[in-house]
Amino acid sequence: MERRHVLVLALTSLFIRLAAADWNILNPKWSFDAKQDTLKNYCESWRINVELNNIREFEVVPQECVGHIKKYMTSSQYKADSERAIEEVTLYLTRCCSLKGDGKDAWIFDIDDTLISTIPYFKKHGFGGEKVNSSSLEAWMKECKAPALDHTFKLFHEIKNKGMKIFLVSSRKETLRSPTVDNLIKVGYHGWTSLILRGLDDEYMHVEQYKSQVRKKLEDQGYRVWGIVGDQWSSIKGLPEAKRTFKLPNSIYYLS
Ligand SMILES: *[C@@H]1O[C@H](CO)[C@@H](O)[C@H](O)[C@H]1NC(C)=O
Repeated sequence: MERRHVLVLALTSLFIRLAAADWNILNPKWSFDAKQDTLKNYCESWRINVELNNIREFEVVPQECVGHIKKYMTSSQYKADSERAIEEVTLYLTRCCSLKGDGKDAWIFDIDDTLISTIPYFKKHGFGGEKVNSSSLEAWMKECKAPALDHTFKLFHEIKNKGMKIFLVSSRKETLRSPTVDNLIKVGYHGWTSLILRGLDDEYMHVEQYKSQVRKKLEDQGYRVWGIVGDQWSSIKGLPEAKRTFKLPNSIYYLS
């Protein structure tokens, strides 16, 4: 009786351990575990589908995932993912571009969460779990306290030293020009060719449309846009296209 009891216990615990193991495509016998969707799985798949541009136009991070997104965006994984994206840019630059040296080779960068980080702001404002309050975000931007993102910082100077013209194309408003320049210079960015911000006419356009129009103007002026680095799909989608685009991770907010 005692021994049978022990055996039943052992089998039960074995079953629980197997059932709790992660679902694995190579082990279809246990595929019923796929139903065991943990919160972490759910939130990570929300995050990855934001990056894949399957989930669009979200106004807030799902409440149950705010903790997960906060953890990711402040983790070494976020840093590694960003650094990897930038390494791919560097690799592309070694072979992509036969620069003509006519001053028409161009590169486009976003500003927020590409060159400098808004994470210190979102840390104090719900980490994507609250609808973005643009007046409070803009007040923060005026303080010029956004830190540089190291990985992009190095790339910015590499691209500049190659002789490309750098265009900063941001969905920040024209009224933020002076604090934007101050913030960029304060953290070490300098030598860009043009900083393009949204004027009153552009403000009622979708970001994608506004940024596409900027590229069209550059193209009309004879620039060859070799690439874009941005954290939003709206920075890289639309026509005309750049020759290559690189998306940095950002699952805190979505600009369409
Ligand atoms: C947005 O922020 C401003 C300035 O911090 C504040 O006065 C206002 O109440 C906020 N609006 C909302 C809807 O939270």
